[in-house]
Amino acid sequence: MDWNSLYATRMGKVVASDIRERMKLLAARQIIQLGGGLPDPSLFPAAEIAAATAAIFADPARATTALHYAPSEGHMPLREWIAGYMTSIGAPCGVDNIMITNGSQQAIDFCGRLFLSPGDTVAVEMPSFIGALRAFDTYEPRYVALPNEAEAPLPVGAKFGYLGSDFRNPTGTAMTLAEREAMIDKAAAIGLPLVEDGCYEKLRFEGQAVPSVFALAVQKAGDVEKVGVLHTGTLSKTIAPSLRVGWVAGPSAVIRKLVLIKQAADLATSALNQMIALAVAQTSLDRLADAGRALYLRRRDAMLEALETHMPPGVTWTRPEGGLYIWVTLPAHIDGAVLSERLLMEEAVSVISGAAFYPVDPVRNTVRLSYSLATEEAAREGVKRMGTMLSAMLETAVAAE
Ligand SMILES: Cc1ncc(COP(=O)(O)O)c(C=O)c1O
Repeated sequence: MDWNSLYATRMGKVVASDIRERMKLLAARQIIQLGGGLPDPSLFPAAEIAAATAAIFADPARATTALHYAPSEGHMPLREWIAGYMTSIGAPCGVDNIMITNGSQQAIDFCGRLFLSPGDTVAVEMPSFIGALRAFDTYEPRYVALPNEAEAPLPVGAKFGYLGSDFRNPTGTAMTLAEREAMIDKAAAIGLPLVEDGCYEKLRFEGQAVPSVFALAVQKAGDVEKVGVLHTGTLSKTIAPSLRVGWVAGPSAVIRKLVLIKQAADLATSALNQMIALAVAQTSLDRLADAGRALYLRRRDAMLEALETHMPPGVTWTRPEGGLYIWVTLPAHIDGAVLSERLLMEEAVSVISGAAFYPVDPVRNTVRLSYSLATEEAAREGVKRMGTMLSAMLETAVAAE
């Protein structure tokens, strides 16, 4: 069978993720991981999850609910809890404004499925979260840039704009309050819906908290039913990714459409996982988020200090106030893909080349670092090796001129 001739055209744009391919290599060798942004497993609340699971199965009625199909919208008590959580972060929501998804990745994918026909335009930040780009690719859109400077005009004619307001993957940067306010006003003025990715909103470890674009939009409109913004959230970075519990919040009419997509895609998210997630969130979310923030802050500091010490002149980087990522801009003629390849093969250090985070016109002299899995010692050693290699590449480039 010639499988290659049979795949749908949409698969033509789908390529293996550099990060996933690298993770396969990582499994085989002792690598200093400064690349992938996985949460640190030492934070996983295994005991709480075990206790929550035991409590569910100790009660026959709850055990039955846990093992059955959940409603496509999600397990009602979890939706209620998330509506309360969204309300607590300044975006009053009812249960009809919430649908549970298999991680927020599924919510992002469903937004693409809801709005994008082949050839439609989607506006994304450049660089943008790779998982969103890969999801949108399958709907065969055209990409344009969604600039977030307050004064920059937004692209007209896009079906929606996808943005990360807090500690973006890959840059680690966050939008200022003025940028968020301006984004809402400018998008409303041209009728551009926004999809806000709230993946890292609970991981601010420094600086002044700023309400999400969604919360600001709800406050401006006075009612969640009137907003032009959808918001995706997740428990992956605060509880555990394997539960695959995320959500999308927005006007109830849009949520009802998304529920139809959920029904067609996988019927429902696991009831058991939703019940466990709810039990752990209710008792421990704040404590778990505190522990994550403390760990990631220490690791960020170690990585920033190592960058200060070891990077040659001409290299710059972001200074995130939360989340898991630092974005490094290399001298213009250094290709981040070449650097990341050589670092992995010659120095056993994994960083992610920045080009993959651009759907078009990649900026090649960039790499993404993550401190999520790097102990302070590993960050120091890994960044030192990166600095040494970069200096050598720069010297070779000068010698060649
Ligand atoms: C920006 C961003 N959004 C969404 C996700 C998806 O996370 P999940 O599907 O586990 O909620 C990730 C995962 O790394 C991410 O970095």
